[in-house]
Amino acid sequence: MNRQRNLLLLGGSGFIGTQLAFTLANRGWRVTVPSRRPHRHRALLVHPNIRLLEANIVDPAGLKALCVGQQAAINLVGILHERRKGDFRRYHVDFIKSVVESCGEAGIRRLLHVSALGADQATGSSLYLRSKGEAENLLHTFGQRGLDVTSFQPSVVFGKDDDFINRFAGILRWYAGYFPLACPDSKLAPVYVGDLVAKIAASIDDRDSYSKRYTVCGPEVFTLQQILELIITTLKLPVRIMPLGKGMSRLQALVLQNLPGKLFTMDNYRSLQTDNICMDGDLCETSLRQYVNGLPAMFGNKRNYDRFRKDYAQGGIPEEDS
Ligand SMILES: NC(=O)c1ccc[n+]([C@@H]2O[C@H](COP(=O)([O-])OP(=O)(O)OC[C@H]3O[C@@H](n4cnc5c(N)ncnc54)[C@H](OP(=O)(O)O)[C@@H]3O)[C@@H](O)[C@H]2O)c1
Repeated sequence: MNRQRNLLLLGGSGFIGTQLAFTLANRGWRVTVPSRRPHRHRALLVHPNIRLLEANIVDPAGLKALCVGQQAAINLVGILHERRKGDFRRYHVDFIKSVVESCGEAGIRRLLHVSALGADQATGSSLYLRSKGEAENLLHTFGQRGLDVTSFQPSVVFGKDDDFINRFAGILRWYAGYFPLACPDSKLAPVYVGDLVAKIAASIDDRDSYSKRYTVCGPEVFTLQQILELIITTLKLPVRIMPLGKGMSRLQALVLQNLPGKLFTMDNYRSLQTDNICMDGDLCETSLRQYVNGLPAMFGNKRNYDRFRKDYAQGGIPEEDS
């Protein structure tokens, strides 16, 4: 008889983590998701194999307690900008040390980790990428001492609830005229969240993936400007992109990083100085174009929506917008 196996999913309440939690739960894992604010993630509880708990995982004692009784762990905790100086070190490097220690003490032998494309302790172009690289190096060193480790380095990830396409679409649909875009020529290979999650889930029991670092990219390379233009064309928005040069891009980052919400920081600017594309490895299948084609359903402009309602109320069939 198959005994149900337990897995600790750190960062399981986030964008990628939520999808991964459902995928693993559907595969029979009993998944524990700790969160600082579990009430915001109650949707996870619809699955009987998912346990959502309130916990502060950066507290080592709390983390150790969570690891007891688990057969595997996956870490997705990560931040894109620092609120306080030293946050990258705290949440990427120090946190992974604590995860590795807790796994060791609790007897967990399998650990998977989501890093980022371009992560490199020595040559990463930003603090984000260097700290992600250092965390990964630490992990793979420990991996040779009784912990089977696999890490994934995705390019930018898109899908329902992402903070990339949704964020730009959300801003652009309230915009008219010229949109000043920093780093317009930065190259990205957007990967669909479902493809990434499938790769992670498949590798848990795959011994060939032990000690490996996988780069994960979508099938097409876009510049940042091309991605925004795709959104604009698909949503039929009255916006044109004004590409900014290096100096103005830096200035935009300097201004925006001091505003609430930190839409764009100098460290983000530095990350975008390295192309976020895969040099080797299998590419994932789902194309960003396919996904963006579905955006009007989520972000359809009000004029289309009003016309649809009017035509529908009059019993007519709404015509395609020309
Ligand atoms: N999304 C992308 O395009 C992309 C691309 C490349 C790499 N990655 C990496 O993939 C991982 C997951 O990304 P994601 O987009 O799913 O992230 P996300 O939506 O921002 O989720 C972050 C998760 O980390 C948890 N967390 C716990 N303590 C935290 C703390 N002190 N500060 C911030 N978060 C904390 C959050 O849980 P609670 O808030 O519930 O406590 C949440 O579940 C990250 O490591 C990221 O660097 C993402």
